[in-house]
Amino acid sequence: MSTLAEEIKELKKEKNAVILAHYYVNDDVQAIADYVGDSYYLAKVAVDLKESTIVFAGVKFMGESAKILNPEKTVLMPDEKADCPMAHMAEVEKINQVRAEYDDVAVVCYINSTAELKMHSDVCVTSSNAMKIVKSLPNKNIYFIPDENLGRYIASKVPEKNFIFNDGYCHVHKAVTVDTVKRAKEAHPDAEVLIHPECTLDVLEYADYIGSTSGIIDYATASDKKEFIISTELGVLYQLKKNNPEKTFYSAGSVQICPNMKKVTLEKVRDCLRDGTGGVEVSDEKREKSLVPLKRMLELAK
Ligand code: 13P
Ligand code: SF4
Repeated sequence: MSTLAEEIKELKKEKNAVILAHYYVNDDVQAIADYVGDSYYLAKVAVDLKESTIVFAGVKFMGESAKILNPEKTVLMPDEKADCPMAHMAEVEKINQVRAEYDDVAVVCYINSTAELKMHSDVCVTSSNAMKIVKSLPNKNIYFIPDENLGRYIASKVPEKNFIFNDGYCHVHKAVTVDTVKRAKEAHPDAEVLIHPECTLDVLEYADYIGSTSGIIDYATASDKKEFIISTELGVLYQLKKNNPEKTFYSAGSVQICPNMKKVTLEKVRDCLRDGTGGVEVSDEKREKSLVPLKRMLELAK
């Protein structure tokens, strides 16, 4: 273990802290985390922790959700500037417009969103539970924010609902194109193609499997195949290779690196623990209102 990792271990004990990390953060940060997972798993885990401090190695909406679910705990972000651009790609004004225009509408908010957007929504979802939750809603009309691509994928699986889309997107997943996937397939014809639903629908057509980061890791781990083309942020390679040292993983072509997730370094994890910096604060009103759709997600996803 590096000295930095040892220092973090000591600080965790001293501060009664626990480290949660998303699969997209740097390998050395995933290696020292107590819990590593996809967005749904991390939200679930955040509810039952005994430690008084949570260090969230991820982007802002993740730390914010952990704080909303645990107002009495200290939640620290190693880099406060690590923010998901898609989390801001919807507007409260448009939500109000859609509510006025459609009867029987549910505003379904991807967890990759600001607390401000969550507080105006009816239910949150992640890529691993969106289909189940949307199917279970009593409403006919679904306004899906902020991610258009995940929205269109879920709409294709739930044809009985009427979807209204928003134009948000993840720049990392949008950069994967039919062309890059086709080329990866030509270069590795025996590989299975595993794609995250934040990719565009035309790219998803090439998938052998579509799912969240955990879904992709679980699928590759259980598969008899030996080669895989991965179409999501390449931080997942750390866990994929750890679980499957005998299998080979290829990138779907574009630069699948999230610059915000990569802002979280081991040094910054140590610093925030040592100095108590990067504390997440959410106003009482925002917290109370955004807790409703988050809790509803945890309930409906069970
Ligand atoms: P999941 O880990 O839930 O698949 O989310 C992917 C993502 O883009 C997180 O920022
Ligand atoms: Fe946001 Fe995409 Fe980065 Fe996830 S990978 S944090 S959705 S920009």
